[in-house]
Amino acid sequence: MADVSPSNLADPTWWRRSVVYQIYPRSFRDSDGDGTGDLTGMTRSLSYLAALGVDAVWVSPWYPSPLADGGYDVSDYCDIDPRFGSLADAALFVDEAHGLGLRVLIDLVPNHASSDHPLFQAALAAPPGSPERDLFIFRDGRGRGGDEPPTNWGSIFGGSAWERVIDAQGRPEQWYCHMFAPEQPDWNWENPAVAEMFDKVIRFWLDRGIDGLRIDVADSMVKDSSFPDTPLNEKTGFGTAGKYAGHPFWDQPGVERIHHRWRAIADSYASTPLGPRVFVSEAHMNPAERLVKYVAPGRLHTTFNFDHLWCQWTASSQRAMIQTILRVHAEVGAPPTWVIGNHDTTRVVTRYGKPETGWRFLPEGVHPEDERKFAQYFAPLPTDVALGRQRARAAALLELALPGVPYIYQGDELGLPEVEDLPVEALQDPTWERSGHTIRGRDGCRVPLPWSGDEPPYGFGPGTGQPWLPQPPTWADLSVAAQTGDPGSHLELYRSALAERHHNPALGDGSLTWDDTPGEVLSFTREPGFRCIVNFGDEPVPLPDNSWLILASGDVSAGVPRDTAVWLSL
Ligand code: NOJ
Ligand code: MG
Repeated sequence: MADVSPSNLADPTWWRRSVVYQIYPRSFRDSDGDGTGDLTGMTRSLSYLAALGVDAVWVSPWYPSPLADGGYDVSDYCDIDPRFGSLADAALFVDEAHGLGLRVLIDLVPNHASSDHPLFQAALAAPPGSPERDLFIFRDGRGRGGDEPPTNWGSIFGGSAWERVIDAQGRPEQWYCHMFAPEQPDWNWENPAVAEMFDKVIRFWLDRGIDGLRIDVADSMVKDSSFPDTPLNEKTGFGTAGKYAGHPFWDQPGVERIHHRWRAIADSYASTPLGPRVFVSEAHMNPAERLVKYVAPGRLHTTFNFDHLWCQWTASSQRAMIQTILRVHAEVGAPPTWVIGNHDTTRVVTRYGKPETGWRFLPEGVHPEDERKFAQYFAPLPTDVALGRQRARAAALLELALPGVPYIYQGDELGLPEVEDLPVEALQDPTWERSGHTIRGRDGCRVPLPWSGDEPPYGFGPGTGQPWLPQPPTWADLSVAAQTGDPGSHLELYRSALAERHHNPALGDGSLTWDDTPGEVLSFTREPGFRCIVNFGDEPVPLPDNSWLILASGDVSAGVPRDTAVWLSL
């Protein structure tokens, strides 16, 4: 067992160096056999996470939700979806996590609600211009009879970002704004009542011992009040949702005021036993100089580094990305985060097994910040899973050696590949329908985890009932049980690396120094006495003299080969 001590709870700077494990509740572990993961399954599996050696968990939305967007459509911000459990189950989960020294972050979804939210239902029932409607973004349409949407904005999931309301008599009336699915109406952050409501939601959870919040689309709440059109995307026929500077719904002036307000709430918990609470911002933002505005002093604590996620697997791209991210974060005094997977992206094993592994692949004319379109072009490329897994092992050692906060998406520690061939009848991501069946969406990275056994559901749930997304028949060797104790397994590599991170004072928060190596080799030293080498080239790299091998992602008996990483003690 890794060294798990509740010391993480005693350290108010935990968020500067902790390894955070993302739980996607629906797909983590099912205790009652209904095919959907749940809180009891999560609580029972906490010992697995503690032994894995992570320091914190981030739980994707667990709120009551019609699951039109996998729970990012919230119908009650202060409760738990009955399929996942109850508030009492959540309290038990948090208590047990804390007992094991694990901090708990949950998701806050402030840009949009579910269309089932009682306040949205009340808004629909109320007349145009009413205070009820003013909590959301309702507008009259353009053109004859108001038949055209108020702007040309395209939704992130495809189609228009506006949905027309049909009144009780069946007559079309106003439109409402939804940057994501029509089942996700955007809140009107111009209305002070919205900010006040979210203050209460935040306190509700922080009072229940939640250590921090991941802010969903942290850059989107404020809309340009003149509601201008955006440049036409020829392909979709709608205005682009790509994030150019000045885009009317991304990174608008005023979004920082909302963050400052939340920061003050989190800081007000400083004198509680758990200490001040923290935020991680989810905002795809380029360039990195713009991203770190979100973690400037007084704003949010950390922000996801998606440049890492979309970085090509080459020495020059990785080095440039790491250097930039470290530099811009140092300038604002915030720790960087490192992200190679999440519930929205092709799994790392599959990404790195493609002939193209990052940004450069973007065809001419595709906006570089629109990762959904990226997925559309990326997905059809053939995958070499063995190569991808070898690289993912090296990438794990690289990620876990960098200064700051690494995130591990559930199942990446098992080396799960993307399930690229889910039957279309099984697809649940709204992207599939909204794109007119051209983009399969994100279900392939959300397939429930294999825990044990030779066939689906691989111990995900009790008995033989099948999970909400089908698991491949080939996952027996990838289960937790199958990998446990096998020193060559993906899981044991993660366990060893995380255990080392706990013991080694060179790892965690801090800095690094680049070593002088050939262009195809990444090598850096961290004090005291730690080195990480990753080889991207064909020429094996000899292990330096007077060094001691801590860990290797592959066979290094003849030096460090291509797509392999080592950790050394100097
Ligand atoms: C980002 C979340 O990670 C994604 O899953 C969701 O669809 C959108 N935000 C909208 O909430
Ligand atoms: Mg269940």
